[in-house]
Amino acid sequence: MRLTSWALLALPALLDGVAAVKQEDFKLCSQSSFCRRLRSIGQRQSAAPAHFTSPYSVGPPATTAGTIDHASWSWPVSSSLYPEISFELRVDILEKGDGIARIRMDEVNSQTPFRRYNETAKWALVDVNPPLASLADARLTSDAAKSTITYAKGLSIEIIHSPLKITQYRDGRPQVVFNERSLLHMEHFRQKQVEKVEEGASESEQMVLQAGEMDRSWFEEVDAEAFEERWKKWTDSKPKGPEALSIDLSFPGVEHVFGLPEHASPLSLPDTVGPNAHYTDPYRLFNVDIFEYLADSPMSLYGAIPLLHAHSAKSSVGVLNLVASDTWVDVLHDKQGTHTHWMSESGILDLLLLPGPKPQQLFEQFAILTGPTALPPQWSTAYHQCRWNYINEEDVLEVDRRFDETDIPLDVTWLDVEYSVDRRYFDWNPSHFPDVKRMLQKVADKGRKMVAIIDPHVKRSDSYRIYTDAKDLDILIKKPDGSNFEGWCWPGNSVWVDFFNPKSWDWWKKMFDFKVWTDSAPNLFIWNDMNEPSVFDGPEISVPRDTVHDGGWENRDVHNINGMLFHNATAQALIARETPAKRPFVLSRAYYTGSQRFGAIWTGDNMGDWEHFAGETAMLLSNNIAGMSFCGADVGGFFGDPSHEILVRWYQAGAFMPFFRAHAHIDTKRREPFLYDEPIRGYLRDAIRLRYQLLPVWYNAFHDASVSGAPIIKPQYAVFPEDPAGFAIDDQYYVGDSGILVKPVVVEGATKTDVYISDNQPYYDYFTHRLYPAKAKPHHLSLDTPLSTFPVLIQGGSIFPVRQRVRRSSPLMWQDPFTLIIALSKQGTASGQLYLDDGETFGHERGEFIWRSFDFSSTSKGGVLRSSDGASDQTEASDAVTPYGENNLWAKTIAHVKVERVVVLGLKNKPHGVSVAGQGVEWSWEDGAAAGGKKEGGSSKLVIKNPGLGVVESWEVRIE
Ligand code: NOJ
Repeated sequence: MRLTSWALLALPALLDGVAAVKQEDFKLCSQSSFCRRLRSIGQRQSAAPAHFTSPYSVGPPATTAGTIDHASWSWPVSSSLYPEISFELRVDILEKGDGIARIRMDEVNSQTPFRRYNETAKWALVDVNPPLASLADARLTSDAAKSTITYAKGLSIEIIHSPLKITQYRDGRPQVVFNERSLLHMEHFRQKQVEKVEEGASESEQMVLQAGEMDRSWFEEVDAEAFEERWKKWTDSKPKGPEALSIDLSFPGVEHVFGLPEHASPLSLPDTVGPNAHYTDPYRLFNVDIFEYLADSPMSLYGAIPLLHAHSAKSSVGVLNLVASDTWVDVLHDKQGTHTHWMSESGILDLLLLPGPKPQQLFEQFAILTGPTALPPQWSTAYHQCRWNYINEEDVLEVDRRFDETDIPLDVTWLDVEYSVDRRYFDWNPSHFPDVKRMLQKVADKGRKMVAIIDPHVKRSDSYRIYTDAKDLDILIKKPDGSNFEGWCWPGNSVWVDFFNPKSWDWWKKMFDFKVWTDSAPNLFIWNDMNEPSVFDGPEISVPRDTVHDGGWENRDVHNINGMLFHNATAQALIARETPAKRPFVLSRAYYTGSQRFGAIWTGDNMGDWEHFAGETAMLLSNNIAGMSFCGADVGGFFGDPSHEILVRWYQAGAFMPFFRAHAHIDTKRREPFLYDEPIRGYLRDAIRLRYQLLPVWYNAFHDASVSGAPIIKPQYAVFPEDPAGFAIDDQYYVGDSGILVKPVVVEGATKTDVYISDNQPYYDYFTHRLYPAKAKPHHLSLDTPLSTFPVLIQGGSIFPVRQRVRRSSPLMWQDPFTLIIALSKQGTASGQLYLDDGETFGHERGEFIWRSFDFSSTSKGGVLRSSDGASDQTEASDAVTPYGENNLWAKTIAHVKVERVVVLGLKNKPHGVSVAGQGVEWSWEDGAAAGGKKEGGSSKLVIKNPGLGVVESWEVRIE
């Protein structure tokens, strides 16, 4: 008998015989042998800091000037605890990124057959060996006590030889210190018997310890599970034995560290140890399928990006720790700054130090290493309607129709697992979807798309071609004994394709070929769920750590990368299915460093309650600063039936999430926006329509992200890096560089909401144009927020484009005219941009785009608005093709598209006239407060009508 969906979902809980307290399905640090071992090093250090010295030291540099031709030096490393073991330290200075330094360490000449996993960079970085700086730009000096590398812009790295300590300085000020607290410990490979001998030695070691000297027991306590570990009913065979890595990184003078997504925690990471610990466990990075996750917790979720920003008003630095195994991070703030302790189960040390010195450069440096966000198809930035499940063709078309009937725009309808026969993805259930192409065509007729789910588990059935193919090609994840790993997931007994195996890549592409997957069409895109991977009857709901991937690596080594490779393979398959290629859209649940190159992610199975809802903003911001900027949360909450109030607030928030999708669990009541009576339906419609009006702003932000790695939504510290009062704020944010400041209302019954203003500029209410004058000091505004509205403010000094006519789907709006909103700064100036391309092909990579810069300068009589070619300011883009040259087909295609209206907020005086190229144009004026004044109230408003300005052209509008 087939299990019902609900029963399948509840399976992990049923198997464990516990109710739905899912926390118990996942390990605490104290239940994980390597975390327990390494965390206790930190505990011993903090109990006796004065006695605690690192056993590691380095010899003189092995590479000196004359023997190398680029900035890469190595040092032999030894540990006084294990003199017979050799390690090597290597420091590189990279050519690009204002002085990014790379620090690597590995065990060398191991007497065992084992090696540490050293391929994380291959998957995470765009270039596994980024080009090195020349020796003219980076210099090493060395004496017996230390080595110093001096390089770009006042940066230097000092390596104290014994005990080993590495400090990166900027202008003589320490920014980041490696091994300041002596927690570095790389467990060398050893045979099981050797460990027994060591255990025997522990008594005498204890005596030495009491005498106050360092010995092995400070670093390696006896651990009966070091070679084999039991967790509930599973045994991890650990064929390589212990190979964990502990490192500490301190950030002197820093009060805030951000990053390490994905966690449901504040953006500014609270302590996990010490007197002010907010959590008892470290932040964990280990991709898992976590059911009903806690709203405030350091527990692992679906994705992992081991990136940290350490930020103070003086400067910012970043560290990217290229490790893909289970990793826990303790955070401690004290008077000296912030200290972090990273504990990983396996892998080499491969650390990238991003020098900043401000958040904006951190974003650029991270993008240089791992690639920027791929520019998505434009339609994917619009509204998506999902639920588990739209059950058949009629259901899909009815939903599609009702959106039109109620005048609510929609771009994408989604299909969850039930579209398939027995969860054999690709195979549509013929009794529910008798004519897939007909359905897709009807959807396409309105410019709309569909997304269907394809999960990584493969039903183990000899009548399923995906299974038989993958088995025949021998590309499945293996058990330690070499047989194919099998586990339980939605389809029942399943196997998993090993996307580390290059043989899987071309095969997977073929599966999406329109000739192979005939029930498919160019407007069908893909959702890759469950790719942590989720295994219902596996340890921590995933594959056992000793399962084996291509190259003989264990899942333990590559766990956090695994989901990203599936995401990438699907994205490449969508690119390959059409000529000329279209941009892919693939939503993934699991992710790792670099996943931004392949598509979007979402925050998984959130609860539909106020507490979870409130926490989403910080989660999305944390993903954004770590490059994973195309992200969203299930609007309405995955679990539960939302009240009208929370649903409206969720749509208002969703309209300002980079990825805007409503989704719901199969057991929830239907909740498509058209189902509600007024005024609720109107509020939902308003939120979705607002998204459509602002689509040009979103596309600008996606484009910026694709060029420079800038976050699509920016937290306060990224926009105002010198205002400490804003650093911990994670419930409001700016959209790209548009100047739009949003604060979702996430409190039940709230009729007033405070917004923090950091800068000395006026702000304007987006909806009412009320003006809040500039104030010399940072301050809060208290705004009325009845259910119909929420804080959307425009920072003085901004210009952004909107499209006021909203159509059924975003592609239908491609030739509609624009309105430019100009919100003047207190100096009477403003600037902004408009980026446009065809929204779906790769033509933009060949220069087929337009990129306008808008600039408003004040004159004694009024002001001048100019449109100029924005691309020529941008070296990267202008390297391509002259933007408006003969080859720019896109610019020609939209040559007729106009700016139909210009709204100027905050002008001081009513003008006498407005002209374009010497010709007067129509305008209207409303009195009100001016940008530079102190008066609060309605802003003055100049509306210029039909000025006849082509979006492609350069022009000037004069206000006199
Ligand atoms: C888990 C996903 O997180 C959820 O969004 C989806 O609806 C279910 N799997 C069923 O596919």
